[in-house]
Amino acid sequence: MKIIASIAAALTVAACAAYAAEPADNWTHMCASCHGKDGAGHTKAGKKLDVKDLTDAAYQKTFKDDDAFGALKSGMKTADGAEKMKPFSDKLSDDEIKALVSYVRTLAK
Ligand code: HEC
Repeated sequence: MKIIASIAAALTVAACAAYAAEPADNWTHMCASCHGKDGAGHTKAGKKLDVKDLTDAAYQKTFKDDDAFGALKSGMKTADGAEKMKPFSDKLSDDEIKALVSYVRTLAK
């Protein structure tokens, strides 16, 4: 019984590690609460924070990959200093952030 439990635990850890690396899964778990699964931002939190529609190709042109990378790494604040999006540097590696920026680009219609 004990052996089965530890194998199961090991598999779970392996599955989670693989899971966290996938940008689509990171998106679902860390971003969709505000931006929505499809990126349109039609969520409760998204409306409150006034998230822009990431499926809008015109809006996507308003920021560069570097801007998005910086926003995710260091967070985004309004002009008066209120937090809009918290920094993800403690949760995501640079590579994961880059992968998410590429993922965001695929959301534009
Ligand atoms: C707490 C809600 C929240 C979460 C969670 C969140 N965002 Fe945001 N995000 C925002 C808000 C608010 C803005 C700013 C919209 C604006 O005013 O232009 C924003 C802006 C952005 C932008 C545009 C950046 C720019 O330079 O204009 C991108 C890209 C983005 N988010 C991606 C993500 C990704 C990827 C994740 C998950 C790792 C994520 N967001 C998680 C609220 C959130």
